[in-house]
Amino acid sequence: TTPLRLGIAGLGTVGVGVVKIVRQKANLLATRTGRPVVITAVSARSRDKDRGVNLSDYAWEDDPVALAKRDDVDVFVELMGGENGPAKDSIEAAIASGKDVVTANKALLAHHGQALAEAAEEAGRVIRFEAAVAGGIPVIKALTEGLAGNDITRVMGVMNGTCNYILTRMLDDGLSYDEVFAEADKLGYLEADPNLDVGGIDAGHKLSLLSSIAFGTQVDFDAVELEGIQRISIEDIKQANDLGYRIKLLGVAQMTGRGLEQRMSPCLVPKNSPLGQLKGGTNMVVIEGDAVEQIVLRGPGAGEGPTASAVMGDVCDIARGFRVSTFGIPAKSLSKAKTAQSNSP
Ligand code: NDP
Ligand code: HSE
Repeated sequence: TTPLRLGIAGLGTVGVGVVKIVRQKANLLATRTGRPVVITAVSARSRDKDRGVNLSDYAWEDDPVALAKRDDVDVFVELMGGENGPAKDSIEAAIASGKDVVTANKALLAHHGQALAEAAEEAGRVIRFEAAVAGGIPVIKALTEGLAGNDITRVMGVMNGTCNYILTRMLDDGLSYDEVFAEADKLGYLEADPNLDVGGIDAGHKLSLLSSIAFGTQVDFDAVELEGIQRISIEDIKQANDLGYRIKLLGVAQMTGRGLEQRMSPCLVPKNSPLGQLKGGTNMVVIEGDAVEQIVLRGPGAGEGPTASAVMGDVCDIARGFRVSTFGIPAKSLSKAKTAQSNSP
């Protein structure tokens, strides 16, 4: 049988997690997909860094665009991050060279998802991004596949592990903001620019991607009403707790009579509710559909293992020959949604 050959660009928290799974679970992956899944080439900024995994079996490329174009790569796995620059250039190069793409890059897709999805479909390729939203939770798969028979009415939830970590550890364990921040960094939760996390932007990127799939609309990150957690103090958290509430960075996307409403902001939730009880880097996504009524997905939203798990789910789908459109329906069929402000009459 023909192996599926991966080229991995980015060997940080997520990339190393993916290398470990491919190396440690070769038999399982081959059994599940019916063919060997192998890495042929990798790329990162520094070739000399000790990453705790053996990379000597793989070809090295300094330039991720060169990696994306290699003849011995079937699937380009983009795990560098960044809204533009090498991530975008290399994904475009991969599509133009006839490769499928797997990425964890929500910033890139929130801004360029429509154009990239159109380019991929024109080239007969797929872009998969399960890891980009809610880490280890297979929420993209749930929306595009398991819930495909539903009109989705609402998607909501906690989608940033760093913020949830900060909002829970400070209260539960009496840690300072700096201590909690350092822990989240050590766990590999933070974006390269952590302002994206605490500013609610990363969670907003994710919400805009889920909205697109849920409502069949083009990704419209600029329409997300955003507020981060920077202005929440430990006193606010304690006061909310005394009143029986937890503060959560909560996202809601729903189609209203006035258009598509998307907002990501700190909200009070009852502390004994499932959302109120979310601790640490855990995420929760609640999806409502006309047939299914409501489902709740909960799991680790960030970190090496959970994110690599989601990347590998996409890789295995490609190995099995699943060809789902990037946002669930062909990119050219996605409509432009009218935006509804959540506080407008
Ligand atoms: P890291 O910062 O840990 O790793 C980034 C990797 O990309 C590094 O290996 C870096 O090389 C490499 N890189 C950066 N720029 C270039 C370049 N120009 N050329 C080649 N390689 C480059 O990031 P993460 O692993 O945490 O995140 C990767 C992606 O996954 C991001 O899009 C992020 O948003 C997303 N993500 C992350 C999650 C997490 O929990 N960490 C969860 C879900 C999604 P070097 O090591 O040499 O510096
Ligand atoms: N920085 C992100 C978070 C990583 O904390 O949720 C997962 O997307």
